[in-house]
Formats: sequence, structure tokens, C-alpha cells
Amino acid sequence: MKEKTLGLIKPDAVKRGIIGEILAVIESERFEIVGLKMMRFERTEAEAFYAEHQGKPFFEELIDYMTSGKVVAFVLERENAITRYRDLMGTTDPMQAQEGTLRKLFALSKNENSVHGSDSSAASDREIALIFG
Ligand code: RTP
Ligand code: MG
Repeated sequence: MKEKTLGLIKPDAVKRGIIGEILAVIESERFEIVGLKMMRFERTEAEAFYAEHQGKPFFEELIDYMTSGKVVAFVLERENAITRYRDLMGTTDPMQAQEGTLRKLFALSKNENSVHGSDSSAASDREIALIFG
């Protein structure tokens, strides 16, 4: 069954001018981009988006980072899009990420890791509603 997932190009990557390179990898891997926009998170929006991490040691740093510049948000559609896009992103820490993954190719650090992807069907529904209404 076709599935939708929500992705973000995070501020470190937007600032470095690699939006096109990242989207080109995603398209070359046969994901269909069915929604796309550039935006900037307000602090309360970023806190709501990453609510599951509230109280963790990296939370404040994460919110500072996610509000430090514009992001590009997109919806991808494909069979098993959620798992397949998480696989294409690679691990949270780019030092552990496999060759060819977006984080191996582009991420700067475990915090500034260039891309986000929904991690479940519930998260995908919630995040698409939050960002695309
Ligand atoms: P994301 O939600 O952004 O797709 O990333 P993820 O599932 O791979 O990782 P998650 O555990 O959900 O963490 C969310 C984001 O918080 C930052 N982070 N920093 N310094 C750290 O130890 C640390 N841990 C997480 C990263 O930006 C991570 O993507
Ligand atoms: Mg996550």
C-alpha cells in the first residue's frame, strides 16, 4: 500500500545551499514528492514538532538549531515510504551512518544532521497535519 511520510531539510543544509542535492538523491531513489514548502519554525512550533523529546538533555539544543534558519518540508509518497525514507536518511549520528545515506553524505554532526523523517505512521499523520494543515 502506498504510504506518505514527512521529511525536513534542516537549517544546516538550507544554509549550505544543498536543498537541490538532497532532493535530487531522494528523487533518484524513486520517492514521489507530493508536497513541498520552505518555512521557518517558531519556537513553540518546533517544541510541538519534537514534543516526544521534551526533557531530554539535547532538547534545548535541538530547538535552538531547528529555529536557527529556514527548513524545507516535504511529503513523500511510495510503498513503505516511512521505513524506506528512514533507511535512506541513515542513523541519527552521521559517524555511524552507512555509505550512500543522506546523513553520511551531508550531515555535520549528531545534532546538525541535515534531514528529518517521520518514524511511524502515527508520526507521519501528526507531522503532515502540523506542517501542511
Ligand atoms: P529526526 O527525528 O530529526 O528524524 O531524527 P532521528 O529520529 O534520527 O533522531 P531523534 O532521536 O528523533 O532525535 C531528533 C533530533 O535531535 C537531535 N539530536 N541530538 N546531541 C544528541 O545527542 C542528539 N540526539 C538527537 C538530532 O538533530 C536528531 O535528529
Ligand atoms: Mg526522530
